Amino acid sequence: FCIHVPSDTTAKALGADRLTKLLAATANERKVDLSIKRNGTRALYWLEPLIEVETKQGRFGFGPVKEADIDSLFDAEFWRGDVVHPLALGLVEDIPYLKQQQRLTFARAGVIDPLSLADYQAKEGYRGLKNALAMDAQPLVDEIKASGLRGRGGAAFPTGIKWQTVLDAPAEQKYVVCNADEGDSGTFADRLVMECDPFMLIEGMTIAGLAVGATQGYIYLRSEYPLAFKTLHDAIAIAYENNLLGAGILGSDKHFDLEVRLGAGAYICGEETSLLESLEGKRGLVRAKPPLPAIVGLFGQPTVVNNVLSLAAVPFILDKGAKAYADYGMGRSLGTLPFQLAGNVKRGGLVELAFGPTLRELMFDFGGGTRNGRPLKAVQVGGPLGAYLPESQWDIPLDYEAFAKEGAVLGHGGVVMFDDSVDMSEQARFSMEFCVAESCGKCTPCRIGSTRGVEVIDRIRSGENVDGNMSLLSDLCETMVDGSLCAMGGMTPFPVQSAMKHFKDDFTKRATSTT
Ligand code: NAI
Ligand code: SF4
Repeated sequence: FCIHVPSDTTAKALGADRLTKLLAATANERKVDLSIKRNGTRALYWLEPLIEVETKQGRFGFGPVKEADIDSLFDAEFWRGDVVHPLALGLVEDIPYLKQQQRLTFARAGVIDPLSLADYQAKEGYRGLKNALAMDAQPLVDEIKASGLRGRGGAAFPTGIKWQTVLDAPAEQKYVVCNADEGDSGTFADRLVMECDPFMLIEGMTIAGLAVGATQGYIYLRSEYPLAFKTLHDAIAIAYENNLLGAGILGSDKHFDLEVRLGAGAYICGEETSLLESLEGKRGLVRAKPPLPAIVGLFGQPTVVNNVLSLAAVPFILDKGAKAYADYGMGRSLGTLPFQLAGNVKRGGLVELAFGPTLRELMFDFGGGTRNGRPLKAVQVGGPLGAYLPESQWDIPLDYEAFAKEGAVLGHGGVVMFDDSVDMSEQARFSMEFCVAESCGKCTPCRIGSTRGVEVIDRIRSGENVDGNMSLLSDLCETMVDGSLCAMGGMTPFPVQSAMKHFKDDFTKRATSTT
């Protein structure tokens, strides 16, 4: 009998390693012939650790499994799959949360052993690269353009156009840099790619190298992801051993080398130019654009800088064709976006969907509302620089343009939910405080503005001249939006302005007592 136990950071934090040992020991004691495989995770986090039993009908799930459940699972002979037990979930693929998703990028997550090249290849892995090796650079770039793929780091710039810029820039040496400095609050999709399906990222970066003529790639990884670091490190070694990286990839005359570099915990190093500075061994200070990294990037050379999710979408596109990807989504938002449900949510996890459904569907049909059952008050989409959306905006379709029209961003797909006990003036203060801590300090509106922002919000929160200080805060936000060099200072006002606009009472409620 074969069972699968998840192995990503979240499952481990919930005791999956101890559980694995206990399962093995109990099987031994009870003389049950169990083979235990470690898969990544399906990222249905409220069910973790989710144990899956392989049967002829498919994989049967049990979860969330605690050490105290092991005896009863063995008593029920859970290894047979379709048995009666309080934790029995039936076929995992039939769990509505999973069944109703369109998992293109995350099709293998939680299914395969992340470091098994055989598993990866058995599930369509490396088919995209094989196709790419038979193509010239321009048709390769054209394929990405035709897929409609846009930067999944958050800015949604068309990936094919970025690649075209690098392809067209003449240079001896070009680079592909993967931005794996996933810093947005509530997000974990990049981590899941790296921990659960690392060959997909390696394959995507190799295809990017072929497309733009780059022979060296770097994955810039946040140091807070030690398991992703180890998994990538091991996967890259396996790819080299199997002629999938280095010189003469799969017997061709193509060459692509890949290394992982660790960041040191600065949020701003997720901004592409400070990331490049950091990769070059310097302090992570933002560079002025232009020149764009696509023209003057790493060590002054043309460089593709793409987020993990953008590169991870590439193998599917080269395998199934641009149209197969572009068939998902709506308007100019094509393909899928892996949303990450976090905060006060009943069913947190990863939900990969074609663009188009509403935020309400995502938060309630998938998320199940708040975890504690209190009414939902606000949701922040797109990380700490994203706007707070009140209920009147929960019916906007999940689409880049529809969000932009409302002054909001989809960003990297992070969705953080707050119940009615949240004080939005406190959240606004947090946004400014976050900017104080994470500003690179290069420009005044962000460096000084954020500190003044905290002070003004403190005055409002203490009831001091609330109207005057609210107006001052609005002016300060406008100055930061208009005058900051990068998105850090330029977008920090979005959560503040949205909190002031939609949750004004949280700012003014103390006014009467002291003004
Ligand atoms: P941006 O709009 O300046 O640029 C987007 C990308 O397109 C960059 O790579 C840029 O170099 C490239 N680009 C722009 N014009 C080009 C052209 N003509 N040819 C070729 N390439 C071109 O946005 P930026 O500052 O790179 O990113 C801001 C976004 O980052 C925000 O919207 C936010 O959602 C997101 N973000 C994501 C985080 C995460 O953890 N994933 C953290 C913080 C912010
Ligand atoms: Fe640095 Fe902030 Fe200016 Fe960006 S906006 S360059 S983080 S000081």
